[in-house]
Amino acid sequence: MKKISIAIDGPAGAGKSTVAKKVANELGFLYIDTGAMYRALTLKAINENIDLHDEDQLNKCLLRNPIQFEIDQHIQRVKIGTTDVTEAIRTPEITKQVSLVASHAKVRETMVELQRRLAKEGSVVMDGRDIGTNVLPNAELKIFLTASIEERAHRRYLEMTKNGYEIKLEQIVEEIELRDKKDQERTVAPLKQAKDAILIDTSQLSIEQVVDVILSLARERMRGEN
Ligand code: CDP
Ligand code: CDP
Repeated sequence: MKKISIAIDGPAGAGKSTVAKKVANELGFLYIDTGAMYRALTLKAINENIDLHDEDQLNKCLLRNPIQFEIDQHIQRVKIGTTDVTEAIRTPEITKQVSLVASHAKVRETMVELQRRLAKEGSVVMDGRDIGTNVLPNAELKIFLTASIEERAHRRYLEMTKNGYEIKLEQIVEEIELRDKKDQERTVAPLKQAKDAILIDTSQLSIEQVVDVILSLARERMRGEN
């Protein structure tokens, strides 16, 4: 079996991280959540009172505080500097600010260098916004996951209410649309489908169905077919 890299991109709530984690588990690949890296820097910068428009300060903060992934009892944990931020990076405040931090060229340059270094360690499943177009342009399998805005917002709504947040569905729709727009319209490595990516609309699909499609494509690539 050939070693391969799998790139999964798409807008918020398409199911990227849920599906990427399961595919990686099934194949015994390393899973790299690049969104968590931008979220970790956003949190650290807010805690250090850094202006989120200041790309030099943000980049220095990132260079001072390396991001690491660790596995603890089968759960992937994210650390920035010495702080474990696995849960803290999922708050609505971080979600609202992260696209601004991710829009800066210098920040992205440092992040992409680290992401490529992690990918060299072996077979990986990496999810984000620019993996197929920019981080791993030679990935053997590229997937672009999407779903209708209604479905994506509904998924987030279920997640957030389950975690005790009181929020209206319409507010989630607005926030997701705004974040997608920022991610698609930024000048550096915007969110878009790579030419050679396979588009999967997950609106009507269960998590298992999406995982099965990706696993069968991955196994074809690993056997050197297609
Ligand atoms: O899970 P969700 O789709 O809400 O977001 P995420 O994957 O955690 O990514 C959070 C944000 O980080 C995105 O909205 C982008 O602004 C940024 N991001 C990026 O610019 N490039 C990546 N490769 C991954 C995330
Ligand atoms: O990473 P991304 O923002 O693309 O999405 P996610 O965080 O993996 O998925 C958002 C939510 O949708 C999770 O609660 C998943 O369980 C759910 N989901 C789903 O209901 N059906 C799918 N086909 C994929 C994800």
